Amino acid sequence: MRSTTTGYRGGNEQGLAMSQSDDKTDSNSSWSMESMPDFSDDDFERWKLLLEEKTGIHLVPQQKAFLQSQLTIRLRELGGITLEEYAKHLKDGLQGMVEWSTLTDRLVVKETSFFRHPENCEFIRKLVRSRINQGMIKSSFDVWSVGCSTGEEPYTLSMILNDCFEEASLDNFWGVTGTDISMPALAYGREGAYAKRKLDMLPGDEKQRYFDEIDPYNYQVKPFLRGRVCFAHGNVIELKKLPQVKMDLISCHNMLIYFRRWRRRKILNNLVDRLKPNGVLLIGMGEIVDWEHPKLTQIDDDTVQAYVRKEDT
Ligand SMILES: C[S@@+](CC[C@H](N)C(=O)[O-])C[C@H]1O[C@@H](n2cnc3c(N)ncnc32)[C@H](O)[C@@H]1O
Repeated sequence: MRSTTTGYRGGNEQGLAMSQSDDKTDSNSSWSMESMPDFSDDDFERWKLLLEEKTGIHLVPQQKAFLQSQLTIRLRELGGITLEEYAKHLKDGLQGMVEWSTLTDRLVVKETSFFRHPENCEFIRKLVRSRINQGMIKSSFDVWSVGCSTGEEPYTLSMILNDCFEEASLDNFWGVTGTDISMPALAYGREGAYAKRKLDMLPGDEKQRYFDEIDPYNYQVKPFLRGRVCFAHGNVIELKKLPQVKMDLISCHNMLIYFRRWRRRKILNNLVDRLKPNGVLLIGMGEIVDWEHPKLTQIDDDTVQAYVRKEDT
């Protein structure tokens, strides 16, 4: 098993977020700033467009230094090649695809935590309980965490679902799928091993019930719960390439904020097509403000931003 004592840094946990508020870059970049290759405004525009085309992530001018430093680090890691050589390398078939994946992982913000939004967690718990009590869950209950990062969100969802199905002694199949563009984040999620301090966010006795101690500093999600969560690579701007499975609940948090408004709307419209009738779409509060959809009704709850899909007519 991979050593988990330091936890996954994944190149950049906060880079874009930091550079949105100020112009600092992450700690990796301090040494590399000394001899960065020239990076003109035109270069920034070109790389910014490329990144947006591939991932949907929209950089603002204040993020130029961050992008430059991440590219510089990567050029160094590849033996000091030039930006032009790197651009060519990215177009080089399979190798290029792998390199895109590496670069993307450096540029996306993967910050996350267990039970990150307590109001949403409470909302989901009530929703699932009420659906169980009303006999609305006839077959499986399928949940999707879009932009799941290192797994804390899908495991949070699975802990809540397990609580609800266990207390109702219901043995219907339920499962959570987590998708993300970052392969290293997905690999980390699959392993389900976290530094002990990450478990501080658990609100109750989840640590005892859902985690095994690996050593005094690290814990791992118990195998039975890991078995409920499937991690798959998925670019949210290419949803059509993903399996067309219909969901009872789709959770999409802290990812749309990095996209332009028109793209947020487009992504959400596509997610609506992935909901079962009565399926619920739960998004981060305020991540979109001017969006509605004819097949959805917004749930009247001030603490969450959630929509339920109308029955097909
Ligand atoms: C800030 S994290 C949010 C994690 C989790 N949803 C939460 O709220 O705690 C954003 C995640 O979105 C992922 N992401 C960014 N662009 C993406 C894309 N085009 N397709 C899929 N995932 C993407 C990033 O890799 C990152 O893991």
